[in-house]
Amino acid sequence: MLQKYRINVAGLATCVAMAATALATAAAAEEAEPPPYEGHIQCETEGDPSTCQIDLWLTRGYRAFSQCQVCHGLTGDGSTIGPSLIRKLREIDLDRFLEVVVNGYEGQIGVMPGWGTNPNVMNYIDQLYAYLLARADGVLPGGRLKRYDR
Ligand code: HEC
Repeated sequence: MLQKYRINVAGLATCVAMAATALATAAAAEEAEPPPYEGHIQCETEGDPSTCQIDLWLTRGYRAFSQCQVCHGLTGDGSTIGPSLIRKLREIDLDRFLEVVVNGYEGQIGVMPGWGTNPNVMNYIDQLYAYLLARADGVLPGGRLKRYDR
């Protein structure tokens, strides 16, 4: 009898712990912000970026990226003079992104110019970040993209 009682207590404790974990996981999922590109991409086949199209909002970010291509490569994968933004966007947060794009900086690879006074970049900085993050997350392919909302 005593033995059985002990087993039940252990079972109950496991049960409570599991419920607590489940609740914590649910809370974390609820708190996590959706990525900034969410709701701006539609794909014919889920998980296949080549079938994806973007809306006008995200297209503005894609267009703003043309200012960056000369150094960071046509698809953002980097060139001999600028690092891959696909890799960089996985490493840095939004604050750092805004800091370097607005003010620029000089690092070991070279000079990243500041864009704080360039409206072609600054007016679409949210969209540009969202576009690059979608690239870094593997959600969008490099190169030209079609718009779905016309
Ligand atoms: C004239 C060349 C050039 C252009 C144009 C350029 N960059 Fe850069 N960028 C660089 C170089 C060089 C670095 C690396 C500097 C270093 O770390 O030595 C860099 C680094 C970065 C980084 C990494 C920051 C970090 O913390 O590591 C980001 C993000 C970035 N650039 C975004 C952009 C965006 C967005 C644009 C377009 C609006 C852009 N760059 C246009 C040259 C350029």
